[in-house]
Amino acid sequence: MTAEPARSASDPTPASPTAVEDLVESSIKMILDHQTGTGAYPASPTFSAYAGYCWFRDGSFIADAMSAVGHPESAEAFFDWCARIIEAREVQIRDIAALALAGTPAPDADMLPTRYTFAEEEGSEEWWDFQLDGYGMWLWALGEHRRRYQTDLTRWGHAIRLIVEYLCSSWRRPCFDWWEEFAEHTHVSTLGSIAAGLSSITAAGVLPEELDSTARQSVEEIMGLIGSEGVHAGHLTKWIGGEEVDASLLALIAPMSVIEAGSAVAEATVREIENHITDGNGVYRYAADTYYGGGQWPLLSCFLGLAHASAGHHERAREILDWTATTAGADGSLPEQVNRRLLAPEHFAPWVERWGKPADPLLWSHAMFLRLAAELRLVGQPTTPSHREDAE
Ligand code: BGC
Repeated sequence: MTAEPARSASDPTPASPTAVEDLVESSIKMILDHQTGTGAYPASPTFSAYAGYCWFRDGSFIADAMSAVGHPESAEAFFDWCARIIEAREVQIRDIAALALAGTPAPDADMLPTRYTFAEEEGSEEWWDFQLDGYGMWLWALGEHRRRYQTDLTRWGHAIRLIVEYLCSSWRRPCFDWWEEFAEHTHVSTLGSIAAGLSSITAAGVLPEELDSTARQSVEEIMGLIGSEGVHAGHLTKWIGGEEVDASLLALIAPMSVIEAGSAVAEATVREIENHITDGNGVYRYAADTYYGGGQWPLLSCFLGLAHASAGHHERAREILDWTATTAGADGSLPEQVNRRLLAPEHFAPWVERWGKPADPLLWSHAMFLRLAAELRLVGQPTTPSHREDAE
């Protein structure tokens, strides 16, 4: 397995078990307190550029974490918020699918946006819209929730079918990546997120026969493309035809499980990320990142921890969880990124001038901390007759 990177001399002292337990409790509370009455999860309640919006990507991981730590009602309220957004755009989605089928794809500007206001609108600010990954993650989170609780997905069935059509018709299109950049490329993390969603929903057995077989076929083609053009020197790449890694690739190993943990490609990807874009336990997005100077993202350390846990390396995963807890502020809030060791320090101040200090708290960071804690069985879902854990 991958060699464990040596602890760096300037790494902070790991958090104590009590600090970790407290952060688990306060993270759940943070997410519940901020979830809106409509079910949306604000990305960051206080950060200027994100305030007032909920992303399908952040939200799906937050819902998955809340589902994993015993708050199915919170996850389901988010699924409802998404379903209303999707159903309200039925005509747009059907047009997109029809145009794709006719070989005259809709322009990027007509594709679904990546974030919405809490009132399920598109909002007026310009954004790096057209990103496909979040819609795959939504399907994936629904499938995970059903696996945990045997939840009947009928209530979201119409929206699920629309999104399966949308993704099956459009997954080949280049679009902005998880970090809302490089729209000219086809991103392996985006492809993997779509494959995860489609596989998860076909496994749930809720699609009509024809759509089910289209979805399965799409998964096969996506995984074929990743295998043939999304791998370099044995590891996954940031985009099709590229050579570099991006830490979002870790999520394809865990928790989304489209790349088998322990497989040669999973091990090589973890190794490459640890060797090139990890310092101690702090993980960067990618080597050339300059956003807020390119800091370490606690949520990415948690994805690294999840990849290790799924390969059976629980001690290493626990070490990463403890490190993540050290990134919490005095008020227990987890930031989007920490600027302990920036990749491009000269880019920090210009971003602060533009948007203020980096996002803090970021609900997605809290969610990934919870998801890793749940994986390590430090917190879990209550088992009640109506919400039973799957025996699988
Ligand atoms: C990140 C996205 C994230 C958004 C909201 C952006 O800076 O690049 O991945 O979805 O913030 O948290």
